[in-house]
Amino acid sequence: MTDVFGLSHQDISPSNGQTKHEQVVFCSDERSGLYAIIAIYNTALGPALGGTRFYPYESEQAALADVLNLSRAMAYKNALAGLDLGGGKAVIIGDPAADKSEALLRAYGRFVQSLGGRYYTACDVGTYSEDMDVVARECSFVTGRTPEQGGAGDSSILTAFGVFQGMRAAAEHTYGSPSLRGRRVGVEGVGKVGHRLVEHLLADGAEVVLCDVSEQAVERVRARHPEVDVVTDKTELTGADLDVYAPCALGGALDDETVARLRARIVCGGANNQLAHPGVEKELAGRGILYAPDYLVNSGGVIQVADEIGGFDMDRAKAKATQIYDTTLKIFAMAAEDGVPPAVAADRLAERRMSEVGRIRGIWLGH
Ligand SMILES: NC(=O)c1ccc[n+]([C@@H]2O[C@H](COP(=O)([O-])OP(=O)(O)OC[C@H]3O[C@@H](n4cnc5c(N)ncnc54)[C@H](O)[C@@H]3O)[C@@H](O)[C@H]2O)c1
Repeated sequence: MTDVFGLSHQDISPSNGQTKHEQVVFCSDERSGLYAIIAIYNTALGPALGGTRFYPYESEQAALADVLNLSRAMAYKNALAGLDLGGGKAVIIGDPAADKSEALLRAYGRFVQSLGGRYYTACDVGTYSEDMDVVARECSFVTGRTPEQGGAGDSSILTAFGVFQGMRAAAEHTYGSPSLRGRRVGVEGVGKVGHRLVEHLLADGAEVVLCDVSEQAVERVRARHPEVDVVTDKTELTGADLDVYAPCALGGALDDETVARLRARIVCGGANNQLAHPGVEKELAGRGILYAPDYLVNSGGVIQVADEIGGFDMDRAKAKATQIYDTTLKIFAMAAEDGVPPAVAADRLAERRMSEVGRIRGIWLGH
C-alpha cells in the first residue's frame, strides 16, 4: 500500500479508531509547500462546513487525528445549530507565520474547489478572513471572508452573542429568570470571543471577574470597563465566589481539579472541547453544576459564516443565533427527563437530527 504523506495505510484506515468519516482527502503541492488534509465526517444534512486550521503539527499522524476529531465535532455542532450543513474540517500542516503564502493558500483553494461543493471552508486557528479572501480567488466554497468581499467577517461577534444566549438559558433554568443582573460571572480568556462576551454581560447588569495570560488582552477590557475585577489566573478564578464560570480560552478547561474547586452553579463559555476527558460531564452533574454544552453555545460563529453561503445578512444570522437560547433550554429539559448530563442530551439531539432529517433526503424526487 502506498504511503500518503508518510502515513501508513493503517493510520488512515477506519480501523484506527476513527470510523464513519465519509471522505478524507490528502492534498500536497510541493512548490508552494502545501500539505493539507480535508476530512468530511458526513453530509447527511448538506455540504460539510468547517474551518481550516493552519498549525505546526508535530507529526502527520497528529494532524490526521486532529482533523478527524474536528470534522466530527463540526457535524454535531452544525446539526444542533439547525443548519442544513454537514461536518467537515481541514488542517494545513505548517507554521502560519513562516509558511503561509499566496501560492499556498491558492493551491489549497484549488483542492477545496476540486471537491465540487462537498466541503465549504472557513477560518480557524491560524487562518483569518483575509486568508479566506485569497482562497476564494481559486474556490467558490469559502466562507468567513472579509466584509469588503461580501463575507461574514469576524465570527467571534455571533460566537459571543450565542454564548450569552446560552448563559441566559442556563440562568432561566437555574434561577427562573434569564437575566444575569447581579450575577457574578468569571470569564477565563478575554480574546476575540471573551471580550465581546464581557460587553454583553455588563450591558445585562452582571458583575464580571476575569483572567487572561495576556496583559494586553486584560488591559483592553479594563480600559473600557474599569469596573471589572481581574484575578491572576484560572485557579484563582475558578476558586472565587462565582455564579457562572465562562471558559473562553483553550480547550480542556474542565478537568477533575477544576470541577472539584468550582463554586459556580453554571458553566457556560465559548471555548471548544471544554471537557478534559469523558466522564467530566458526570462529575459536574454530581456536584450540581449545570454545564451548557460548549459546541451548542459557541455555534454562533458557524451560524454567522454559514449565512454567507446564501449572501451574508447579519440580521438574519443574528436571529438564527438567538435560537441558541431555546435549544439550550430544550437540552436542559431533555437531560432532566432522560436523567443524563446535558452534554449527553446534546449529542443525542444532534444524532437524532442527522439521522431523521438526513434520512428524508433518500426520498426520490422524480425527474
Ligand atoms: N472565534 C470564534 O468565532 C470561535 C468560535 C467557536 C469557538 N471558539 C473557541 O473559543 C475560544 C476562544 O477563541 P478566540 O477566538 O477568542 O481566541 P483568542 O485567541 O482571540 O482568545 C483566547 C484568549 O485566551 C487567552 N488565554 C490563553 N491561555 C489562557 C489561560 N491559560 N488562562 C487565561 N487566558 C488564556 C489568550 O491570551 C487570549 O486572550 C477557543 O477555544 C476557540 O476555539 C471561537
